Amino acid sequence: MQTAAPQKIYLKDYTPPAYLVDSVELTFKLAPTTTRVLSRIAFRPNPDAQSRDFFLHGEQLKLISASIDGVSITPEVTATGLTHTVPNAPFVFEAEVEISPATNTALEGLYMSNGMYCTQCEAEGFRKITYYPDRPDVMSVFTVRIESDLPVLLSNGNPAAKGDGWAEWHDPWPKPAYLFALVGGDLVNHPDRFTTMSGKDVELNIWVRPGDDEQKCAFGMEALKKSMKWDEDVYGREYDLDIFNIVAVDDFNMGAMENKGLNIFNSSAVLASPETSTDANFERIEAIIAHEYFHNWTGNRITCRDWFQLCLKEGLTVFRDQQFTGDMRSHAVKRIDDVVVLRAHQFREDNGPLAHPVRPESFVEINNFYTVTVYEKGAEIIGMLKRLVGDEGYKNALDLYFDRHDGDAATIEDWLQVFEDATGRDLSQFAKWYSQAGTPRVSVTDSYADGTYSLTLSQQTPATPDQDKKTPMVIPVAVGLLNDNGDEIVPTRILELTEATQTFTFDGLASKPVPSILRGFSAPVILEHDQTNAERAFLLAHDTDPFNRWDAGRTLAQDVLLQMVREDATPDTAYLDGLLALLRDDNLDPAFRALALSLPSQDDTAQALVDAGETPDPTAIYRAHEALTLHIAQHLQDTLPRIYADMTVTGPYAPDAVSAGKRSLGNRMLSLMSKLDGGKQASQQYATADNMTQQLAALASLLKIGKGADELAAFEQRWHHDRLVMDKWFGLQVSCAAPEDAAKVAAKLTEHSAFTMKNPNRFRAVFGALKGNTAGFHDPSGASYDLLADWLIKLDALNPQTTARMSTSFDTWKRYDADRQTKMKAALQRIDKTPNLSRDTTEMVTRILG
Ligand code: ARG
Ligand code: ZN
Repeated sequence: MQTAAPQKIYLKDYTPPAYLVDSVELTFKLAPTTTRVLSRIAFRPNPDAQSRDFFLHGEQLKLISASIDGVSITPEVTATGLTHTVPNAPFVFEAEVEISPATNTALEGLYMSNGMYCTQCEAEGFRKITYYPDRPDVMSVFTVRIESDLPVLLSNGNPAAKGDGWAEWHDPWPKPAYLFALVGGDLVNHPDRFTTMSGKDVELNIWVRPGDDEQKCAFGMEALKKSMKWDEDVYGREYDLDIFNIVAVDDFNMGAMENKGLNIFNSSAVLASPETSTDANFERIEAIIAHEYFHNWTGNRITCRDWFQLCLKEGLTVFRDQQFTGDMRSHAVKRIDDVVVLRAHQFREDNGPLAHPVRPESFVEINNFYTVTVYEKGAEIIGMLKRLVGDEGYKNALDLYFDRHDGDAATIEDWLQVFEDATGRDLSQFAKWYSQAGTPRVSVTDSYADGTYSLTLSQQTPATPDQDKKTPMVIPVAVGLLNDNGDEIVPTRILELTEATQTFTFDGLASKPVPSILRGFSAPVILEHDQTNAERAFLLAHDTDPFNRWDAGRTLAQDVLLQMVREDATPDTAYLDGLLALLRDDNLDPAFRALALSLPSQDDTAQALVDAGETPDPTAIYRAHEALTLHIAQHLQDTLPRIYADMTVTGPYAPDAVSAGKRSLGNRMLSLMSKLDGGKQASQQYATADNMTQQLAALASLLKIGKGADELAAFEQRWHHDRLVMDKWFGLQVSCAAPEDAAKVAAKLTEHSAFTMKNPNRFRAVFGALKGNTAGFHDPSGASYDLLADWLIKLDALNPQTTARMSTSFDTWKRYDADRQTKMKAALQRIDKTPNLSRDTTEMVTRILG
């Protein structure tokens, strides 16, 4: 069967909706395979519309009946929606449809997870619930009635009424359909309250299934209250309903969803306990709770006109959650963490066939554009804006944004206009950050004469799909200068690079300074700065900017790795001595020291080789990483046990940043020690650990040296009842497997009785870890390529969204040698040729193949 070529949607084709919705009333009669949805929608012609065509989105719906103003109609129904002739005046449309949540494995629309009804409507899932103008610029007031015997029935807004077998909810804030949510289940709540800045009392709940999960809500609740307070203190934003509900759902395609007053969370993004969650889990949960809560203003009160504007809410909300985490924990550490993610994932995306602007110009399936580029590069753009206009300018602009656009479905143009109006700055060139894809390269040369230091910066952005020619961007480059003693002689200053090449001068200097460039990672660019290892070691020892201090070590490590890959060299002692000095510096935050001791990822090293015009060999890169790790362990040998002991945290476990930082450095010591002691210390830590952070780190250290079989079995024995912990058990085995074993280990795990591809967390645990095991994924046999392709083909029939997302594992295929390219291409083509492949996966595979 030949299906029509998927339709591309273009930003330039935007037209306003023909009809607006004043109110919508929905009644749900819940039943696993025969849920009835009754709708009553008050439409009114949009005075700004260019047409009067009446079209309602609707997919996979069984239409039972429909009427207009009480008169029964027979509309024209297609696979994507319905049309009918309607009055050129306000009218009421009513319909009844039937849907089957129990068989909805795509986890989009209304579906069931472990007996619980729940929804995911962003971006275009509401059309699988009922006929509706499912576009974000149609905002309306929703009233929802749910009929079911289940004890807990939730929707958006405030509770209106309830009785035996039914509940009604009313949301006074007009919203687009993608923010609709419904939950029905046998649930229990972890309750709390919050008093807002104007003294309003808000009921808070985290809802979970009865049982173990009830003990895992307290941390999330504290995070929610901290988020509510922070948004008041820092952005002046108050919560606007009587109740805020969070529900934990086991089967969920993404992290979480900001539905108005009813956030729905992947259980991995909200449930936590010391015994079952790592420090990293706690930090991630705190950030995601904050992120979804912050969407109430940046996303819900002000939403997006169309899905091309996704970064308007996501970039800004990520930026806000990053600020929040920095305030709660450590700004320096958070910045480093964020840049590690940005470089590993966003730079990778920008460098490959999936590169797209932060505001894309076209898409086939919008779910494919919930990307690191839209989210994380989108957040970097906000950070640059703040840097350019200053804290005061940023605050004024944000106040104006909330003031001017509350209740709007806005655009990036609206957003930039607010900054122009609030600060008087012309942002026309800056706007290119939204439209021009690819990571700019900034190269540096310098000179010194007669007391004047000159820094010449040049920028160049490589071609990306559909964008051959690039023009200069506005790049804020934060620079400070140090003298030979390591004293800061010129404090951080922002240089605005706006042309292809520009020279900046610093006068009155007694001698040639050592520059510290791109401090705090002031722009999402690749810095090309030919420094000697000695200069980098100097910055690693002395830079006053913590980010650049860390980055000097990182660049040094990358150079060392490249030399080791190319010529089997032994690592430069300047680097090893630098690490040792840093490790011994007890004045430094342990979390920072742990980061400074970590190596660039093997994928980063591969990209660095590509940038140098070479073809990376993942096996050689793996060996270099292993060898360097061993060299580091040996060089630091005498200090490891001392620091390991110093990092002992006494008293009951707490996930705070200070304790977590100590555990992080301690566990870094442990993994290095295990390279030398055969896993003695790791076995001991495993046996005595009273929290998941210590337990999992010990297990990982053992697995990485080919030990830990007993511990692995004991772990399963102890945790088999806990889904989230078992995800770790599945993932760790794959990520710690030797490259030649990775595919075998993953394949064997798919035969485990607890493996299911219906649960995205479990699928990702195995196959996300396979992608992350770079040398294992790219093992020359091609076994991992074949295994992943097999499973993506199977999963696509059930869950297109997760399949499409996981297909990005192949996006680096053009980097590699002919043999690997042939094998990866064959895997991609095999996926592509699958009969009835989803639109989601078809689009991704087509773009990856290029
Ligand atoms: N808006 C959600 C968040 O960032 C993500 C929802 C994405 N859903 C999707 N199907 N792509 O918090
Ligand atoms: Zn978001």
